Amino acid sequence: MSSIIPLFSSALMVCSEKYTLSADEKDWIINAGFGENTGNSKSNSDAVLREPQLSGINTFVQRQIKTYTQSLLKLEKSVELYITQSWLNKAEAEQFHPLHSHPNSILSGVMFLSENGSHPPIRFHRANPLFPLELKYTELNDFNATCRWFEPVYGQLILFPSTLLHDVAQNKTDNSRISLSFNTFVRGEIGNTDSLTALKI
Ligand SMILES: [Fe+2]
Repeated sequence: MSSIIPLFSSALMVCSEKYTLSADEKDWIINAGFGENTGNSKSNSDAVLREPQLSGINTFVQRQIKTYTQSLLKLEKSVELYITQSWLNKAEAEQFHPLHSHPNSILSGVMFLSENGSHPPIRFHRANPLFPLELKYTELNDFNATCRWFEPVYGQLILFPSTLLHDVAQNKTDNSRISLSFNTFVRGEIGNTDSLTALKI
């Protein structure tokens, strides 16, 4: 049988374990202050995972980042990823998230925090086309698709390389679509002394 190799693919992790929010955590999120963002609104705080009231979510997120970096990426222990900014997103009726990526970050994450399951999915987009042609396919798969989307599941976390383009279509429900996002950066020793690429950060 021929070997099919997903050459240089992007590793997106849909965490199998879902986080169960406590009543206090739900309260804190509902009462958080929000300000204008493009197409939607974002929390006034850009460090929500440092809030003592959300420490349970922070512990859960840190554990999933470790699984991603150690089990999937096989990152050496001389470096670690740490969370830089973390914030809440809120898309009310007719609001949306425009196409974007997360510069100055290595790995990003999004956790869905709305119990109503009929909100629009997060969509990830291929930055470089597989072929410079608009071909028609009998079915879509990870090799030919230019877009892949994930329905929001309450308490589910998705980790993805920060360079991946993504967006969310207009919220056609009357309920707020709330999610938590975060960015990370690397700490430790990277590069190689002999190659003159060594860097301690
Ligand atoms: Fe994003």
